[in-house]
Amino acid sequence: IDFAKEKGVTITHVFDTHLHADHISGGRVIAEKTKATYWLPPKDAEEVVFDYQPLEEGNDIIIGNIKIRIQPIYSPGHTIGSTSFIVDDQYLLSGDILFIDSIGRPDLAGMAGDWVGDLRKTLYSRYNALSKDLIVLPAHFMIIDELNDDGSVGKKLSTLFAENHGLNIVDEAEFRHLVTGNLPPQPNAYQEIRETNMGKINPDEEKQREMEIGPNRCAIR
Ligand SMILES: [Fe+2]
Repeated sequence: IDFAKEKGVTITHVFDTHLHADHISGGRVIAEKTKATYWLPPKDAEEVVFDYQPLEEGNDIIIGNIKIRIQPIYSPGHTIGSTSFIVDDQYLLSGDILFIDSIGRPDLAGMAGDWVGDLRKTLYSRYNALSKDLIVLPAHFMIIDELNDDGSVGKKLSTLFAENHGLNIVDEAEFRHLVTGNLPPQPNAYQEIRETNMGKINPDEEKQREMEIGPNRCAIR
């Protein structure tokens, strides 16, 4: 909210690429405080108890007078609803599906076997068919090597297809093994975090901090 103020812009829409299991989304609070519209992929939002707009492929969103076009791309694999978006045909906000030097992993360990096929399809078919000139802006980085010299985190999709190991595993069984074989442990509080993000429970700030302790475990290399 402060950042928007600093830039002299008004927050009118807030998007989440998926329902998070590893951190508490600030999206809903920002939307409430600014009276913005909050967008969530409907397949991740079946249990949420607040109003949201369904973020769905095929329904592009046009924002503001200068017209920013948001094109949702259904890209399951991290969660069943994971949705990336292309902004103005230039940027691919990949959420937790694709990073610079790593790929996403199924967000719930118990679902890994079910979701690995979706992840493969998203990365190897869906993303592969997108314009390779798109600049991928992922939601996390895991290692310092993923940063550009200026500290930003983003690379052309063509570069990622050339250099990211996770996009270059020809053998499907090997891919399945990489994704499901070495899953990092689930964050302790993941179930509570999900319920908080669904609006089912409302822990105070201190409790929230405690729930979020621990590293980002979204990525695998
Ligand atoms: Fe995530």
